[in-house]
Amino acid sequence: MADDRPRILTGTRPTGPQHIGHFAGALQQWIALQHEFESFWLIADYQVSDFAEDIDLVRESVFETALDWLAVGLDPDQGHYVIESLVPEHAELTIWLSWFIGLGRLQRNPTLKAEMADVEAKMESVPVAFFTYPVMQVANILMPKAHAVPVGEDQLPHIEMTREVARRFNRKFGEVFPVPKGIVGDVPRLVGLDGDAKMSKSLGNTIDLRDDAETVMLKVRSMFTDPTRLRATDPGHVEGNPVFMYHDAFNPDEAEVEDLKERYLKGAVGDVEVKEKLARALNTLLDPIRERRSYYQARPDEVKQVLAAGSEHARMVAQATMGEVREALQLDYLK
Ligand code: TRP
Repeated sequence: MADDRPRILTGTRPTGPQHIGHFAGALQQWIALQHEFESFWLIADYQVSDFAEDIDLVRESVFETALDWLAVGLDPDQGHYVIESLVPEHAELTIWLSWFIGLGRLQRNPTLKAEMADVEAKMESVPVAFFTYPVMQVANILMPKAHAVPVGEDQLPHIEMTREVARRFNRKFGEVFPVPKGIVGDVPRLVGLDGDAKMSKSLGNTIDLRDDAETVMLKVRSMFTDPTRLRATDPGHVEGNPVFMYHDAFNPDEAEVEDLKERYLKGAVGDVEVKEKLARALNTLLDPIRERRSYYQARPDEVKQVLAAGSEHARMVAQATMGEVREALQLDYLK
């Protein structure tokens, strides 16, 4: 079936279940864009930096990610669920494109730099695959000739690199790739439950989309709030307070949030009430997601079918692109 909508490619690395930070920062936007764009949603297993350390986790996470995405409403009739390594053309394109990115350029990439520090702390030596992952991300985006890439702000350096590579390639070898643009949503990056700048599985400070209502309640209760406030009657800080950041991101009842903030600033409400209302808002949001999740969880074959069909389609698209790339690079030695 011909689909003449402009294309989006975006994705995630399968390193664990998706959490509400993914939902606020990315998934909501992907859902909103799925009607206007033909979407490729990529599960980037080639790019898990400790792939070799924990293949079981990657395997489980590929499936869990698909469940989470189906549960939030990424519609497989609107877009394609793609497992990266089932489209091995990604690996080939990564090699060709790696000639278009300088090592210095890569080392200055601020996102890579930050992640590098984590990897160095965790592993004896940094795998070469870690350096090639941003190049592979460039290949992911250029492979279906995506026009747009909806991502969190931290991914923008990679999109900038993608634009440079596309331009360079086109200049030297003829117009093959559109120069894609990044689309960043208006929800700022969500802090962790502990107030850390990043919500991440490795820091153990997430609320996962698959968490049940009880777990959400317990996690919210454990949340970091205003450390300067000792009693409910002390005036508190709303700015920079994770509990209020979450209220802003997830509680649709603006009047309730305003009221809580006012009382908090005056010292007229306890953390318990603020947290209870947050947990309620989160559970209201997550309930229908949990319901769809359990539907699919009971039907693993349906999930596999979605992944198979999406990956197969992406592979067809990839083979067409690689045909053009090989022609542009004059790889027809034996003709
Ligand atoms: N690197 C991205 C992340 O860590 C995941 C990803 C892989 C991606 N390939 C992509 C995102 C292509 C956008 C486009 O979140």
